[in-house]
Formats: sequence, C-alpha cells, structure tokens
Amino acid sequence: MKVAAIEHPRSRQEELGQFLTATPVADFMASMFGPLPRVVRLLDAGAGAGSLTAAFVSRLCGGNEGGRAIEATLYELDLDILDALSATMRECQRVCAESDIHFTFTIHSADFIQEMSARLAGDLFGTAPPAFDAAIANPPYRKISTDSAARRSLHSVGVETSNLYTGFIALIQRLLVPGGQLVGITPRSFCNGPYFRPFREDFLNHLELRRLHVFESRQAAFRDDSVLQENIIFHAVKGRNQPREIIISSSSGEPGDEITETVFPFTEIVPPHDDGKFIHIPSTASHASAKQTMDGLSSSLASLGVTVSTGRVVDFRLKDALRKKPERGTVPLLYPCHFNGGTVHWPKLEARKPNAILDNDETRPWLVPSGVYLLTKRFTSKEERRRLVACLFDPDQVKAKWIGFENHLNYFHANGHGLERSLAVGLYAFLNSTVVDQYFRRFSGHTQVNATDLRTLTYPDVLPTN
Ligand SMILES: C[S@@+](CC[C@H](N)C(=O)[O-])C[C@H]1O[C@@H](n2cnc3c(N)ncnc32)[C@H](O)[C@@H]1O
Repeated sequence: MKVAAIEHPRSRQEELGQFLTATPVADFMASMFGPLPRVVRLLDAGAGAGSLTAAFVSRLCGGNEGGRAIEATLYELDLDILDALSATMRECQRVCAESDIHFTFTIHSADFIQEMSARLAGDLFGTAPPAFDAAIANPPYRKISTDSAARRSLHSVGVETSNLYTGFIALIQRLLVPGGQLVGITPRSFCNGPYFRPFREDFLNHLELRRLHVFESRQAAFRDDSVLQENIIFHAVKGRNQPREIIISSSSGEPGDEITETVFPFTEIVPPHDDGKFIHIPSTASHASAKQTMDGLSSSLASLGVTVSTGRVVDFRLKDALRKKPERGTVPLLYPCHFNGGTVHWPKLEARKPNAILDNDETRPWLVPSGVYLLTKRFTSKEERRRLVACLFDPDQVKAKWIGFENHLNYFHANGHGLERSLAVGLYAFLNSTVVDQYFRRFSGHTQVNATDLRTLTYPDVLPTN
C-alpha cells in the first residue's frame, strides 16, 4: 500500500522525535500480531504518515478475512504531516473495501501524552479513556526533563519515566483490554539500566512478553533517517502471566534478509530473582555463525572411535556402598561437584556428596577402569556461564584402579576404557569452546545436556600424526 511521503528539516524531526518506519519493517511488525477479534479497535499513537496502520491493514487484507472491521484511532502532533496521514488513511479505506473489511478512522491532532494521562487520571469529566484490542507503535524518542509538562502528566497516572517513548508505551498498555496486543518498535535502552527500572516493572507486571526481535545493525530499521540507535521490536499481550518460553529473533534489517529465530525459557530473558528486572537479549547472530562453523565439521564421535555415556552409578540404588571418605576397599566416586575448572578436585570432603564407593562384586559392573576420561555435566545451573561444562579426569592425579562416575555426568570413553590423552585434550578444548556453547543454546533452551545431544554433534577431525 502507498504511504504518503513527507519531508521535514532535521531539527524539526528531532524536536518531534519523528523517525518514520520503513515499509518492510512496518510489514514485519504487523505480521507479529496473533489472532485478532472480528472488530479490531486499533491504536496508532504518534502515527506520522500512517505507515504502521497501513501495514496492519495490509496484513488483515492479505489474510482473506473479509466480513471484519477495523476502527483505527490515530494520534499525531505534527500539523505538517496530517495531510499525508489522512491520505494514507483514505488509501487504507479503499484497500479494505476491496477485501470486504469495514475500515473507519479518527485522527486526533493532539498530544497523546497529555490527553491520555488526563483521561486515565479522570481529569477530563465525562471522557473515560478509550479501550483498544490492538496497538502498533513507533513512539517518539526524546528525553523529557523533570519539570516538563509531559513528565507531570505521566506522573499524574503513576508513570515515572524520563523518555517520551517509555511514556507512550506505559500509556498504551493502560488502554489495552485484557488480551489486547501491542507490537512496538523502540530503542533497546529500556531493557537495562537503573533509570528504566520502574518502567520495566510496570511493563512486565501488565504485559506478557511473547516475542522480541533485534536488529543486528544499529542503523538498519531507520536507514533513511540515518538514526544511530539500537532498536528492538516486541510483541506483548495485556495480561499478568509471562509465558514459559519466548521467541527471540534477529535480522540485519536489510530488505528480504534472513530472520533467525530461537526459543528461550522466559526465565533466561528475565531472570525471576533479578531485582533490576533486566531484559536479557541474547545475540542470535552468534548462534547462526556457530551453526555455520559446526556444519563445516565432518567428524562424528563414532568416526573418532569415541563413545559418550551417562555415568553408571545411580547413587540411591547403591546407597549401602557409598562412603563419605575414601577408605580401604573403596574407589573414587565422582559427581559434578568434583569439577574444578578444567580438572577434577578429589576428594572433596567438605561437599555433601560421597567421595567413594566400595569396589566389590555388586558395584564392579557400575565402575570403569581408570584412564583419561572427559567428563561433562548433564545439568548446569542458570547462573553458570556455559551450557556445556567439560573437565578432564587425569588418572595421574587421582590414583585408583577403578572409578565410579555418578549419573549426573556424562563420560567420553573408548569402548569402556580411557581415551588417548591427546584426543581427550582436543575434545576438552572443543567442548569448552564458545562455538559449541552457542550452538547448544540455539536448540536447547533448557539447561540439560544429554549424552544423545553430545552424540549427534559434529566434531573436528583428528590431525594425522606421522
Ligand atoms: C518515531 S515517529 C513514528 C511515526 C510513525 N508511527 C511511523 O512509524 O512511521 C513518532 C511520531 O510521533 C509524533 N509525536 C511526537 N510527540 C507526540 C505527542 N506528544 N503526541 C502525539 N504524537 C507525537 C511525531 O510527530 C512523529 O510523527
């Protein structure tokens, strides 16, 4: 759909926080909405020339969903852009009519912050705040000083924030009906830092964050305006139950480029015990390049003559054979708590876990002959920097004929025996690399690494020695 063009001097643009959304980005934003009611009350606050509403309309018209209605409400302060906005809305009406969608619009040439704050605070007698099923927004970005009218208006409805864009989002959130959806493009700055903490709290208490999209290039979304700003797009739904999982996607921002998507547990993006309520956005670009690197490797564990198994000692089944301290007739028993950086620290008498297991006819089938083994943790805590934690078991440091590996770890071996030392060291370096860690984060949103995951990885070749 055609969106009317508009030219402004740069200084005026900055005063209004006016940076218009390019059509491909607007279309992408519109594609993020989930199912909508038959009659959609749509809010476009800070509408500019109307490109976001136009994209929303194109999305619904493209869905062959005739027999529905869109009631658009648009707020725009800049008088010079109003003609362009009206022209775009008339074009929306024409396009909708062709798709059997009833489109109506109301343009308010007013200050969204002042008007909505007053209506929400009940200051304008007889004018209750409107309610919306959907909102699409690229709000203006500008710092608002403590003594500004905008700051005072926002304060009157309990919104404490120092930027126009967060003020807009906080008000839009209040105007959505339960289940109402918001797709917004904003600077990324609200995701961290102490200044935005009250805003984040307000946002996360009332909006369920369903999806985040990051642009890899700072300039991508607003190429024409050469804005240097890191932007994100989010899709959120009015409600109080954050989802278990959230989609994080990224793209370079070039038209038609590839979009990488990864699903993360919500608690990884907003850790529940973080008082700062930071919104952590992992870089999906590094996930994509990790995949490329891994795809380039041609060996498998089997071709290296290596097997990975889960530790065989299930401690509650062999309770009577476990010992807190090594003693005559026992051999070392290793748990993840014995991991100490890249090597094993054993015994660990201060740990709650046993350090030894009796070596007898009953336990021997669960033990392995001593040798060089590579160990990985099956479960890592969320606080751990890496998803995959590998360490080397060196028989020169822990002297014994047999060893027990407990069930919470995986061990790499050669047909039930230890590995050649150089191979074990190579695997150790590979498994602890950032590439493997990033690769794991791509597909395993949880913190568990099973033997099967390790078996299906690709591995580097062994260099021939001669
Ligand atoms: C970042 S631009 C985005 C425009 C349009 N939504 C788009 O995506 O192309 C923000 C718009 O908000 C308008 N604006 C700034 N302050 C406003 C206010 N207090 N009330 C209503 N509109 C405002 C600006 O004039 C500008 O057109």
